[in-house]
Amino acid sequence: MQFLTTAALVLLASTTTLAKNILLTNDDGWAATNIRATYYKLKDAGHNVFLVAPVSQRSGYGGKFDIPTSPTLQTNGEFSYPAAGAPSWGHEVDDDHIWYFNGTPASSAVFGLNYVIPRYGDNVTVDIVVSGSNEGLNEGESLFTISGTIGATYNSVFRGYPGVAFSGSNSNNSFFKDNLDLNDPKEPSTIYANKVVEFVNQLFKSQGDNPRALPLGVGLNVNFPPVGYQDESCEDPKWVFTRLSGDFATGADLAYNETSNSFEWVSSELPALKVCNNGDCSLPSENYIVDKTKCQSSVSVFSVDFDANLGLTSQTKDLLAPLF
Ligand SMILES: *[C@@H]1O[C@H](CO)[C@@H](O)[C@H](O)[C@H]1NC(C)=O
Ligand SMILES: *[C@@H]1O[C@H](CO)[C@@H](O)[C@H](O)[C@H]1NC(C)=O
Ligand SMILES: *[C@@H]1O[C@H](CO)[C@@H](O)[C@H](O)[C@H]1NC(C)=O
Repeated sequence: MQFLTTAALVLLASTTTLAKNILLTNDDGWAATNIRATYYKLKDAGHNVFLVAPVSQRSGYGGKFDIPTSPTLQTNGEFSYPAAGAPSWGHEVDDDHIWYFNGTPASSAVFGLNYVIPRYGDNVTVDIVVSGSNEGLNEGESLFTISGTIGATYNSVFRGYPGVAFSGSNSNNSFFKDNLDLNDPKEPSTIYANKVVEFVNQLFKSQGDNPRALPLGVGLNVNFPPVGYQDESCEDPKWVFTRLSGDFATGADLAYNETSNSFEWVSSELPALKVCNNGDCSLPSENYIVDKTKCQSSVSVFSVDFDANLGLTSQTKDLLAPLF
C-alpha cells in the first residue's frame, strides 16, 4: 500500500508539473486538420489548451492585424464551418476551449490572450503560444515576414510570451472532419502533432521552476519534412538546429510573361537572404535541412529585436554622420 501511494504521488507530481497553459493558433483556420490534431495531442499530454484561430484561411497575412467589422460573418468560414450569418467569434458547441475569430492570425492570437482566456479560461497565465502546424513550409526570412503562422508567433513574442511556429510539408488545406485521424501512425498531421508535444514538453522540462520557457523576445521557427503517407521512410524526424538565413534561401519574386501579358509568383534565391550578420553562422539554413536532406526538422531561434548589430549600426552611422 505504501508503495502504491508513493507511486501515485510521484505520478501526480510529474503530471502536475508538466500541465501548462497553452494558446494554440494557426493561419489555415480553426477547422484545419493540423491544428485540431495538435490540440488533441497537447490535451492528451495533460495541458490546458486553448485553440483560438481565424475562421478563414489566412495564409500569407504575415503580422496583419484585422479585427471583425461586424457582429456576424459576411462570408462563409473555411469549409463553411461556420457559414455566413454566424457570430464573428465563437466556440465549438461541445468544447469551449476551441474558438474561431473573424480576424488574421496575429489578431486571433491576441483575441485569445485578451478576451478568451480572461473571460472563459479563468484568466490563467499562458506559458507558451504554439502556432501550427501550418499546412505548408515556412522556411527562411522571406517566409518569416509573409507567413501568418509566424505572424501570430512574433505578435505573441512581442507581448512577452514564448512562441513557437511549426510548419509541415503536408500542404493540402484539409478539413478536420475529412482527415483527422489521431490513431493513424502514418497520417502527417498526427505525426506532426506528436512531435509538437515532444518539443514543447522538452521546453517545459528544461524550464523547471523558471518563470519563462524561453528568454524574453525570443521565439522559434520549426519546419517538418514530409512524413508518413508523404514519405513512408520517415515517421519520426530528427531535430536539427538551423538558421533562418543561409544557402538555398529563397524569397517571393515576380516574373512577367510576355505571351499572356501577366505576372506570375515565383520563388528566387535572393542575395541578402543568405547573409549572416547575427547568430551562429556555422548553422545550416532551414532550406538546406528541410529541402536537401531527408527526415530532419529545422529549428531556428529568432529574436524580435530587429535592430542591426553593433558593427553594422556603426558603419551606417558613419555614412550619415554629417547629417547629425
Ligand atoms: C487577468 O489577469 C491580469 C493580469 O494578472 C489582470 O490585469 C486582469 O485584470 C485580469 N482580468 C480579469 C478579467 O480578471
Ligand atoms: C485534402 O483536403 C480535402 C478537404 O478536407 C479532403 O477532402 C481530401 O481528402 C484531402 N486530400 C488528401 C490527400 O488528404
Ligand atoms: C506564359 O503564358 C503562356 C500563355 O498562358 C503559357 O502557355 C506559358 O507556359 C507561360 N510561360 C511561362 C514561362 O510560364
